[in-house]
Amino acid sequence: MDTPAIKLTGLKKRYGSGDAAVDALKGVDMTIWPGEVVGLVGPSGSGKSTLLKCLGAVIEPTGGRMELAGDVIYEDGWKIPDLRALRRDRIGFIFQAPYLIPFLNVTDNVALLPMLAGQDNAGARKRALELLTALDVQHRAGAQISQLSGGEQQRVAIARSLANHAPIILADEPTAPLDSERALTVMRILNDLAREYRTAIIVVTHDEKIIPTFKRIYHIRDGRTHEEAGEGRVI
Ligand SMILES: Nc1ncnc2c1ncn2[C@@H]1O[C@H](COP(=O)(O)OP(=O)(O)OP(=O)(O)O)[C@@H](O)[C@H]1O
Ligand SMILES: [Mg+2]
Repeated sequence: MDTPAIKLTGLKKRYGSGDAAVDALKGVDMTIWPGEVVGLVGPSGSGKSTLLKCLGAVIEPTGGRMELAGDVIYEDGWKIPDLRALRRDRIGFIFQAPYLIPFLNVTDNVALLPMLAGQDNAGARKRALELLTALDVQHRAGAQISQLSGGEQQRVAIARSLANHAPIILADEPTAPLDSERALTVMRILNDLAREYRTAIIVVTHDEKIIPTFKRIYHIRDGRTHEEAGEGRVI
């Protein structure tokens, strides 16, 4: 039997304290296997982004347990010393807002992380161009970020999150600014990646166009999750 890529047990996150405390996650259980693309859906404010940020070690949970590929990352406190290395090497993020680096051009935004992780610059730029081509934005490869439309920025951000072959990709509304054909293209790329590299991918979405593509969907409401089978439509 495989080791889960992600295993959460009773994961909790409370923001603030006292009267102002918000219990965003009240005990989330979740298991994601290598090679799976899983949907995470729920109403606004239900804790979806909070869950992804905990998983990506962007914010610290306040209770429960989190394992990645069998390593205990959090159990009532962080259990590994180097969270930056975890974020750099093990997690690819696609945020709700693209957060691209404004003073680098498109190609270098995509190539940066692999370069920082030690790949040679030419190889990293070649791979960046392949990804930009797959996302149909290669014609903007030399442009500055400020010259791109919102949808183009999002596709560059997706290319960047794929560039370092992280075993886990966390995507927060990745298709929101895209038209339906491009949204399905993004889902096809994510599914191909999951199959080819055994990447585990969580996609937060409200997007009716892509929901039928998931085999499994976690619903989150009031800080807790439950799992449902999806259609798993082939795209
Ligand atoms: N930094 C913060 N400080 C205090 N409360 C926060 C903070 N971030 C989020 N919250 C609260 O935690 C709850 C969950 O927020 P979260 O951003 O995870 O929701 P979401 O499911 O991603 O919503 P959306 O679909 O609108 O993006 C909300 O009640 C929100 O107001
Ligand atoms: Mg959110």
